[in-house]
Amino acid sequence: MSGTSGVVAPGPLRADVVVVGAGLTGTVTALLLAEGGANVTVLDAGTARGTTTARSTGKLSVLQGTRLARVAKHGDEVLRAYVAANFAGIGWLRRTLEDLDVPVENRDDITVATAAEHVPDVDAVLEACSRQGLAAEWEEHPPVPEPAFGAVRLPGQAQVDPLRMLSALRSRLRARGVRVHDGVRVRQVRRSSSGVALRTTRGTVLADRVVLATGVPPGRLGGLFLRLEAGRTYLTSWELADRSALPAGFAETMSITAGSPVRSLRTSGNLVVVGGEGHAVGREASPAARVAALDEWARAHLPVGVRRHAWSAQDYRSDTDLPLVGPAVPGDDRVLVATGYDKWGLTNGAAAGLALAGRILGDPVEWGPLLEPWARPPRPRAATAVTFAEQAKGWACAVTMPSGRPPKGTTARVSRVCPHLGGLVTWNDQEQSWDCPVHGSRFGPDGALLEGPATEGLRPR
Ligand SMILES: Cc1cc2nc3c(=O)[nH]c(=O)nc-3n(C[C@H](O)[C@H](O)[C@H](O)COP(=O)(O)OP(=O)(O)OC[C@H]3O[C@@H](n4cnc5c(N)ncnc54)[C@H](O)[C@@H]3O)c2cc1C
Ligand code: FES
Repeated sequence: MSGTSGVVAPGPLRADVVVVGAGLTGTVTALLLAEGGANVTVLDAGTARGTTTARSTGKLSVLQGTRLARVAKHGDEVLRAYVAANFAGIGWLRRTLEDLDVPVENRDDITVATAAEHVPDVDAVLEACSRQGLAAEWEEHPPVPEPAFGAVRLPGQAQVDPLRMLSALRSRLRARGVRVHDGVRVRQVRRSSSGVALRTTRGTVLADRVVLATGVPPGRLGGLFLRLEAGRTYLTSWELADRSALPAGFAETMSITAGSPVRSLRTSGNLVVVGGEGHAVGREASPAARVAALDEWARAHLPVGVRRHAWSAQDYRSDTDLPLVGPAVPGDDRVLVATGYDKWGLTNGAAAGLALAGRILGDPVEWGPLLEPWARPPRPRAATAVTFAEQAKGWACAVTMPSGRPPKGTTARVSRVCPHLGGLVTWNDQEQSWDCPVHGSRFGPDGALLEGPATEGLRPR
């Protein structure tokens, strides 16, 4: 197998630890493992630019919208572990990025109620912060571009250019002698008494331990895909036509609304980034209309000129609203996973790296056990019923085997039946892709696999 490092291995590649996925989670894990003396190899299906990490908003925050309030429902012990993990993550990132000369801009983070019915949610965030002794404060008139019913502000958070951050961390990884093989997709993870065998698009790779830092794990391992919901969110960046027309204090903060419609805002040099309009993957009639809604909102509320870019990415929410970091299968440390960040995976991803590397190197972190996938029973919820309904819809079509031709782009005709578990893919008019509404796999117009738990593309028809 040859990779970006230019290494060619005779026969199957072998390593003590193989990290699959070189987004933030995998890169931090591999870096810490290498620094701890482990022999580690990294495989990634794509490149740094295609990761969710690189396509994120780049906020490093412990506040995280309303997530602390949802985590608090698990009780004080879990909330304490979650906050400690995120402080550890942000602390590690700050120190390492400073060392790598990657700018980290200090910002206060704000969660805003833009409607009276969202005030209790913001109150719950403040309450969760108080229970953990965080220096959060209620703010009657937050610096946001639409009328607000109050907000909670947590000082001392930060923002970064996420691609620059990831590229710098990957460079350090390579400088530590770690082989990073881009363009290698793992299709199957097989555990045996002698370790783990990974079937990849470029041959077999053997390891004692494997870390799956791939968002949702590939295939069906541990059934974790059943506990995750894939959500897609849109981001746009705009030139500021008149910076002085921004609300006073806007540029020194990052913000997100507590309820729907979600609007996530930050500045980036002379640009303002506007995000939101998230939805479950494959369950939206017109994602392009979602981007149009963001455009309309930005023009109505901010002093913007030309729109520079529009892009989207996807992340996974777990059934418990907590990250899932630890063994993919209960009691088996050979394959570890880290996922379920629900769009707050920068601090959580770094924390997962600390937890997984510590576990493998025999120096576990204190807060790790409470965030393990099997620390509490899986939870069925309303979204699970929708997922099963989508699944049933797909299976009902198994006889007719519907095919689809994308309205624009290539003329390729492909089967619309998802090769993962038979969901019926829908056309995404924004990304020009086929998206599966069941567990979030995505495919190009020609059926080529883009992301998700599927391990093969759509069949040609
Ligand atoms: C629109 C949006 C904005 C966000 N903004 C923020 C933010 O401001 N702050 C924050 O904290 N979080 C944010 N998040 C969440 C955060 O970006 C993610 O949680 C985090 O980047 C996940 O990192 P990761 O390393 O686990 O996954 P990724 O960065 O997605 O990396 C996973 C890697 O695994 C590879 N891979 C997948 N399957 C395979 C396979 N079978 N074989 C080999 N390789 C494979 C992929 O190619 C990819 O490179 C945002 C998310 C979205 C969607
Ligand atoms: S992603 Fe599971 S059925 Fe499509």
